[in-house]
Amino acid sequence: MNKGKQPMSQQELNPSADDPHRHTRRTILQAAALAGLAVATGPLTLAATTQPAAPGKIKLGIIGSGRVGSALGTTWVKAGHEVMFSSQHLENDKELAAKLGKNAHAGTPREAAAFGTVLLIAVPYTALAAVGKDLGEMIRGKIVIDACNPIVARDGEMATAARERGVGLVSIEALPGARIVRAFNAIQAAKMGDATANTQTIGMPMAGDDAAAISVVSDLVREVGYEPVLVGTLAGLGKYLMPGTPLAGEHSPAEIRTIAAGLK
Ligand SMILES: NC(=O)c1ccc[n+]([C@@H]2O[C@H](COP(=O)([O-])OP(=O)(O)OC[C@H]3O[C@@H](n4cnc5c(N)ncnc54)[C@H](OP(=O)(O)O)[C@@H]3O)[C@@H](O)[C@H]2O)c1
Repeated sequence: MNKGKQPMSQQELNPSADDPHRHTRRTILQAAALAGLAVATGPLTLAATTQPAAPGKIKLGIIGSGRVGSALGTTWVKAGHEVMFSSQHLENDKELAAKLGKNAHAGTPREAAAFGTVLLIAVPYTALAAVGKDLGEMIRGKIVIDACNPIVARDGEMATAARERGVGLVSIEALPGARIVRAFNAIQAAKMGDATANTQTIGMPMAGDDAAAISVVSDLVREVGYEPVLVGTLAGLGKYLMPGTPLAGEHSPAEIRTIAAGLK
């Protein structure tokens, strides 16, 4: 998968003629297209538009800088991307960013959402709907990596309901308009911090509905040392991307494909 990226379409480059930032947006997107990157086409703030990422690099906003968010964000900073960390405690994010150097920043969740052309949301599943509500229109059209899992022992009744309904569908409802890719759900946070540890022998099952978003996230997955394996759509096999299912844990890409083929 993810071989030979397609050039971005005119619709992707200019999704809304009513958009007040469309000229700046077009410049960023054209630069990204030239660099071979597909990027989000959602609303961008002036701060995010004035400083595009370096060619081939992505600006990432992390919402939830706990075990998962800090491990992935640290790896992506080391890979040369610019990352803004956010949580409910700005002082913790400032401390983390200071340790990582000039490509790391700290902000509120809304600032991180405005900063990133790609967002990672890694909060307890009970907080996901509130985060989606808080960010509102800021995530419409943006690529959002959803690492959040409903864990019954931690999240209670709502996790049982989400697992029964299908976690991919519940995330779509919580983050309306976002170009969601579920990834990093089946692997422990402790295995997300070393960009070279796995050398692509372990697969990363992912689910999504947007080909361009899946392509961008696939590259980010490789930088964490895993080989991306798309198992299906959010509403389809995406429901298995969480602990306690056959896709959880570490498997080779071939094993993931075999497991996925046996699921429905
Ligand atoms: N840990 C794993 O091995 C693992 C692996 C795969 C997926 N996951 C899933 O990934 C998600 C995060 O797991 P984690 O282990 O990283 O959790 P964690 O260490 O508890 O971190 C959660 C983060 O979310 C932030 N947060 C909570 N509510 C928020 C809100 N309303 N707005 C903004 N930020 C908020 C917390 O901020 P404060 O600290 O400031 O409250 C914290 O930074 C969970 O859904 C989990 O199931 C975890």
